[in-house]
Amino acid sequence: MSARLVVLVSGEGTNLQALIDAAQDEAYGADVVAVGSDRPGIKALDRAHHANIPTFTVSTKSHETRHKWDEALTEACRQHEPDLIVLAGFMKLVGEPFLKAFGGRCVNTHPALLPSFPGTHGVRDALDHGVKVTGCTVLIVDDGVDTGPIVAQASVPVHDGDDEETLHERIKVAERGLLVATVGRMVREGWSVDGRKVRIGP
Ligand code: GRF
Repeated sequence: MSARLVVLVSGEGTNLQALIDAAQDEAYGADVVAVGSDRPGIKALDRAHHANIPTFTVSTKSHETRHKWDEALTEACRQHEPDLIVLAGFMKLVGEPFLKAFGGRCVNTHPALLPSFPGTHGVRDALDHGVKVTGCTVLIVDDGVDTGPIVAQASVPVHDGDDEETLHERIKVAERGLLVATVGRMVREGWSVDGRKVRIGP
């Protein structure tokens, strides 16, 4: 039986699309059963509609406190009975209720080689620092900003003349491949987390 993925998004949704495409093949081992966002009107939601995947939007604006928003997001996810939640360009930090429900089975993708350059501007920060190699990281979500245990990483060269956009596009090519491969292995082989060490497989 295929694992149930709920994917949370905030933007363009190319990582989501890569997961949807991979899941077309039954051998992949996972189905995207729902897509959630923190804002309406984004391309990622169009991609979900196009693929006939149910969507939900839980915006911070329509909740009195961040805690209430987190509870509503948790409940919206729970209704789809996920085996694994994937934050694919989801631009909000999840809080205690969410982590209580889904801790250890929620992954995020970040466009830098953590622990270097966490946060919203990972690509720009790496470029400004002058690194020659950067990349992307799939990590287990914890209560910090991109601090969780690392599941997988891929490196990407920085080219002379890169700006934030050209570098991010190169990273995103690697990122989509890494996310699809890593989520696939996790759902097919299982995973365990021991402190900071993540192991895929029995
Ligand atoms: C990705 O690079 C993700 O790591 C970052 O934002 C980008 C989202 O891209 N946080 P997309 O929406 O999947 O196209």
